[in-house]
Amino acid sequence: MKIGFIGCGNMATGMIRGILAAGLAAKEDLFASARSAKTRRRIREELGIVCASNEEVASGADLLFLAVKPQMYEEVIARIRESVQDTAVIVSIAPGKSLAWLQKQFGRDLKIVRAMPNTPATVLEGMSGITPNERVSKEELDLVLSVFGSFGKALCVPEHLIDVVTAVSGSSPAYVFLFIEAMADGAVALGMPRQQAYEFAAQAVLGSAKMVLESGMHPGQLKDMVCSPGGTTIEAVRVLEEKGLRSSVIEAELACAGKARGL
Ligand SMILES: NC(=O)c1ccc[n+]([C@@H]2O[C@H](COP(=O)([O-])OP(=O)(O)OC[C@H]3O[C@@H](n4cnc5c(N)ncnc54)[C@H](OP(=O)(O)O)[C@@H]3O)[C@@H](O)[C@H]2O)c1
Repeated sequence: MKIGFIGCGNMATGMIRGILAAGLAAKEDLFASARSAKTRRRIREELGIVCASNEEVASGADLLFLAVKPQMYEEVIARIRESVQDTAVIVSIAPGKSLAWLQKQFGRDLKIVRAMPNTPATVLEGMSGITPNERVSKEELDLVLSVFGSFGKALCVPEHLIDVVTAVSGSSPAYVFLFIEAMADGAVALGMPRQQAYEFAAQAVLGSAKMVLESGMHPGQLKDMVCSPGGTTIEAVRVLEEKGLRSSVIEAELACAGKARGL
């Protein structure tokens, strides 16, 4: 199976590294295109895979990822739509581009999947939401899920929830990085060296996320377990509530999903 990427920026690079690290495909079976000479060199030299033109990727791929910015989709699809094989499965990873819109751009009935991954794919801890159109068979969907599963977790969602996936996992690494940076800033303000502060903050986030995933307990219950009566933690929680941490995150996600719907 040949896996092609049109565009090879942050997200495609993370996915390719994940696919290679997980051993799902050999380097010879992966190929990618990009706009600049600099990225084309990076595809060949750093990723070690074949660099080709958009048309070559489109015509050779059994599984074709569209990994350019949403603003580029219309122009890129217009140039490749005649080259794509009828049997290929096309995977769009852009927010806001519906299955119906994608179908219309290609101008014929094709197997199309909407997916929303995130950059932790690079370290094999990605989270992806997947929505296939009705032409994608169960076997093809399983294949797509196994590719996304090679660099993290992947779940099928109905199309109306794909923008929610963008808000809760596609974009959320940025919120978590802000949180880690802020936690480290607090530690630095209290006298801890900067590098050590990032390590303490990041490991605390990693461990807490694992507890949510592995214990099956409600996050509120886990929070309650850390907060001793009259203790230090509840003082921090009191200030976070006063400053509106929860409503900031909720409002941020609503803004993110709203932006995705408008793209
Ligand atoms: N980054 C994320 O966290 C994330 C998460 C989920 C989904 N996504 C989605 O994934 C897609 C890619 O995002 P990204 O963050 O990876 O963007 P990016 O880093 O800007 O990468 C875009 C890539 O597209 C290439 N490109 C631009 N015009 C092209 C053309 N006409 N033909 C071929 N290649 C072209 C660029 O080439 P050059 O490098 O040469 O400029 C670049 O390699 C977007 O639709 C984004 O919304 C991103």
